[in-house]
Formats: sequence, C-alpha cells, structure tokens
Amino acid sequence: MKETNGIFLKNCWYVAAWDHELIDGRKLARTILEKPVVLYKGESGQVVALDDRCCHRGAPLSMGRVEGDDIRCMYHGMKFAPSGKCIQIPGQEQIPPKLGVVSYPVVEKDHLVWIWMGEAARADPALIIDYPPLRDPAWRGLPGYMHYDANWLFIVDNLSDFAHLAFVHTHTLGGSEEYAYKTKPVQIERLARGFRVERWHENADAPPYHKKVIADKAAKVDRRNIGHMHIPGIFFLETTFAPAGGGAKRGDLTGARQYRNCQFMTPETRRTTHFFWNYLHDFDLDNPNIALSLRDSMIEGFNEDKALIEAQQKLLDADPDFKLLAIAADAPLSHFRWTLNKLIAEEQAPMAAAA
Ligand code: FES
Ligand SMILES: [Fe+2]
Repeated sequence: MKETNGIFLKNCWYVAAWDHELIDGRKLARTILEKPVVLYKGESGQVVALDDRCCHRGAPLSMGRVEGDDIRCMYHGMKFAPSGKCIQIPGQEQIPPKLGVVSYPVVEKDHLVWIWMGEAARADPALIIDYPPLRDPAWRGLPGYMHYDANWLFIVDNLSDFAHLAFVHTHTLGGSEEYAYKTKPVQIERLARGFRVERWHENADAPPYHKKVIADKAAKVDRRNIGHMHIPGIFFLETTFAPAGGGAKRGDLTGARQYRNCQFMTPETRRTTHFFWNYLHDFDLDNPNIALSLRDSMIEGFNEDKALIEAQQKLLDADPDFKLLAIAADAPLSHFRWTLNKLIAEEQAPMAAAA
C-alpha cells in the first residue's frame, strides 16, 4: 500500500457521495484518500462503507451482492456485516473472530454521504460541517459531480481568488475582465480552519449565467460574493445580485436575487479529486428550468476551471522544482495551505513518536 501519511488529513469528514448515487441498491466503488471503498445502502436504509477488497483474495466487494445490510463477495462467497466482520464462509464452520475488512464511519446528512477515513473512534458526527441551504425549502438546486485529474489543493487555490472569474470565466460566470481590475476583496479573514473572502462589484452588468435566468437582463446590479473555505477542502459561496444603488451595501436586499453554492473537494488520490457541488437559488422556486439552466452554466464554468487546473497539474508534475511566486491575492490560499499542513503535522506527531 502506498504511504499516504503526511499527504492527507485523515481525522476529518469527507464527502464520499451524493445520496442519489446509492439509490436502488447500487454499490458504489470509489477511491478516497487512495483507499478503495465500496459504499451501499442496506435494507435498513443505513449507508455502509467498507474496504473494497475482500480480505480473502482481494476481489472487489463492489462486484459482490448486497444481502440485507451485509455484502457477499461473489468470488468465494464470504459474507461481511456492516461492521466489516466476516460472518459466513461457505463450507467452513469456524470463522476466526478477527477475520474481516475495514469498515469506515459514514453519515448521511442533507443528501450528502460523509466518510471518516482516520481513527474510527474519533469520528464524531457533530464535526460534520453544516450547510442549511441543502435542506431549506427556501433554496432550490441540483446536485453535481465532476472528476478532476488534479490535486484537490489546486481547486482550493482556484476558489480562493475571485479575480479568476474575470479571465477564466469571462463569458460564463464572470462577465467581464473589468471584474478583476475594478474590484478587490474588501475583506480577507483568516479563520482557524480556513478563510473568508468578500468582494463587491457595484453597478455592473449581470454575468451571462445570471442573465439566462432573469427577465430584466439589462438592469445593472450590485454583485456581492462571499466565499468561505474550510478544511479539508470545502467551499461555500454566497452570491447576491441586488438592484444597483439600492442600498445592498448597507444591508438592504430588497429586490435581490441570491445564490448559495457549496463545493466539496475530496481527494481520490494525491493527484486526482472528486468534486461535489450544488448551486442553489432563492427565486422563482416554482420554475424548475432555473435550476437546470444554472446547473448547465456551472458545468460550463467548471469545465473552464478543469481545463486550466489539469494543465497546471501536468506542468507542475513535469518539473516539481519549479518555484511559484506569490502575489497579494494569494494570502488566503497561503493561509489555507499553512493551516492544513499544520493539522497534518499534528496528526502525524503521535504516530512518529510511537515509531
Ligand atoms: S476473494 Fe472474496 S471470498 Fe475469496
Ligand atoms: Fe472558477
């Protein structure tokens, strides 16, 4: 097994799947932090996450059969309980008590399936980061998934600077290059486990993705973006489009249309990433076409990021000694990487001492 110590933070919750990926008895094979995992929902409705390698000869349990809440390996028929314990060996009476596979703690909450890849005893569901718009009927959106051939921190970097909207997403999510020149983060807050950035663009044209879902396309807007990034790679974005000059900056949101966007970056490997997202809106909730249009716009926009980030990963892989030079806008991403490295080092320290 490849050594992953020092690369990933293990004692924290990661998004493993959207709940719809497990409907109809589906067995989902997904690599998380370089470990093969099989996820399924048993008869009781409980989600189960096990090592996707049978402890006998290493066949994938995801090629097996769900029986009640258990799963049977369809190579030689060994059966495993949700705890990972082997509970049946066809043709063998005695089952060694320790025989089994790793079972990972999992929690289903607000349509997300969370997994804990570290020490199971420390998996406290209270540590799962809450995102109320995913359950609040005042918001409507559609769940999305994309796969990246890049390290998850490059996606975190990308989201930490809204100036990239101007250049990467000029004709989709951004709207103009002006956004990068005329607007500055009004606030960058360093948080204990992440950062918060806020940026205003006043008296601007609505960006293309927003124009597609509104009738008053020519009206000028005051646009506010507030981004929150959390360890290990979870991003929440609040976007407000208020009538220009209507006092949004003083807190008057009359006539404003708002979006709430969550993005969860889960390392598949050290150079590939699972990317889960939802872009929710709070207006015209009886019109399902809005969520569909927004989902299409986001896919278009995220593909622009993906092309750039995957190309960046390739170049950096080709020359790992290449030195990146920082600019002022990199403060949040530097803080995030520093914080994450510190947490990983703290997690490693007891193991190193024991060794
Ligand atoms: S490999 Fe699973 S039972 Fe043999
Ligand atoms: Fe982007």
